[in-house]
Amino acid sequence: MKYGGVWDVVMCLGVVLVLLQCSIAVAEVVTCSGMVPMVYRSDKISISDFGAVGDGTTLNTKAFREAIYRIEHLRRRGGTLLYIPSGVYLTESFNLTSRMTLYLANGAVIKASQDTSNWPLIAPLPSYGRGRERPGGRYMSFIHGDGLHDVIITGENGTIDGQGDVWWNMWRQRTLQFTRPNLVEFKDSRGIIISNVVFKNSPFWNIHPVYCSNVVIRYVTILAPHDSPNTDGIDPDSSSHVCIEDSYISTGDDLIAVKSGWDEYGIAYGHPSDDITIRRITGSSPFAGIAVGSETSGGVTNVLAEHITLSNTGIGIHIKTNIGRGGIIRNITVSNVFMDTVRKGIKIAGDVGDHPDENYNPNALPVIKHVRIKDVWGQKVLQAGLIKGIKNSPFTDICLANVHLTGSSGSRNGPWTCSDVSGGAVQVSPSPCSELISSSQFGACSVPF
Ligand SMILES: *[C@@H]1O[C@H](CO)[C@@H](O)[C@H](O)[C@H]1NC(C)=O
Ligand SMILES: *[C@@H]1O[C@H](CO)[C@@H](O)[C@H](O)[C@H]1NC(C)=O
Repeated sequence: MKYGGVWDVVMCLGVVLVLLQCSIAVAEVVTCSGMVPMVYRSDKISISDFGAVGDGTTLNTKAFREAIYRIEHLRRRGGTLLYIPSGVYLTESFNLTSRMTLYLANGAVIKASQDTSNWPLIAPLPSYGRGRERPGGRYMSFIHGDGLHDVIITGENGTIDGQGDVWWNMWRQRTLQFTRPNLVEFKDSRGIIISNVVFKNSPFWNIHPVYCSNVVIRYVTILAPHDSPNTDGIDPDSSSHVCIEDSYISTGDDLIAVKSGWDEYGIAYGHPSDDITIRRITGSSPFAGIAVGSETSGGVTNVLAEHITLSNTGIGIHIKTNIGRGGIIRNITVSNVFMDTVRKGIKIAGDVGDHPDENYNPNALPVIKHVRIKDVWGQKVLQAGLIKGIKNSPFTDICLANVHLTGSSGSRNGPWTCSDVSGGAVQVSPSPCSELISSSQFGACSVPF
């Protein structure tokens, strides 16, 4: 022993206290931060070094593409950080590369060009067989990553602005030739962090990780008008180990929708979404707050969504699929949800969404089982819930616990309606449909909450 008796005791106590504090801190707030380590990159370059001008009108495409080309070919150990200083940088779409950090300083805005005629086209995703809204290819995402690893988009809450209104208008006027671009897409990539960035006015879906693993999205703000078409917030798609937390999302479509491909193409590609964690999300949407589907042909398993706060929303929690989708949706847990002013609290349905073409297999019936929805409070909820299974593939083991959804002041809201579903319900008001009540002894809910 190096120290005398008293010191030993003091040191020991100190160590014990530190350990205690650490374990308490860990127990209090669970975060995704361990899933993908935040990497500090000592090698830095600035977009200004490549001639970029942040005046909002100069087109900086060349600067972005050259800077990223440099990062890709210099291959610095530990990767390289691309610094975007304060200013408004107009650019056309660009590709990211592996082992880079795109860092938006306070006041930095990367703004998408509205020249849609020049926008690059890329191949459709194999799990969709075509573009999501138009046949054939699709416009490349504004910021795109294909086959990458170790990429971070972060900074001091700078903004990535899609200037999507030209695209929304093309959709409204039915003049779109191909499927609109996402704001940010990562495809076949792993080890991705997106944090402390504001995403604004995406042409289509905002953040789309597809065929990815180990993706962390936290401390983001995603904004688009409520009447902007298909501006989903975050769509983890055929991806695994995705963690989304501590974010505010208000858009024109689902805030977060977990997907895995479309009908016969998604079934053939067979790539599920698995291990998806969603927590501490606040937001507002004319469609769903937290959604699974409707494109779920590769299957969606092990989703946990908790501590969700929704206001002015269409459907609080929406699990949706359709005949012809195939795919299994299993082990979905949603808990600690507060909703205020929503049309429908909870919807689980097997008749939602369109088909890519006429070649889908009507016998490819999706399966939904083992869904847990607990600790949900709602006020000004127009209709409590709708669970509409599929005749030859009823939803099973659907369990509700401690779900309380009230109408607007004094008036009762619409009751639950159910068909082709079995499961259980405890402490649910208004009282749920008989399909769930009849098994309220909870024997039907095989795995405990
Ligand atoms: C960007 O990536 C896409 C898809 O991987 C590719 O088709 C395109 O050529 C790339 N563009 C540039 C400028 O490198
Ligand atoms: C950025 O936004 C996040 C999430 O809204 C917030 O927690 C954080 O404090 C902000 N950071 C700065 C530097 O403003």
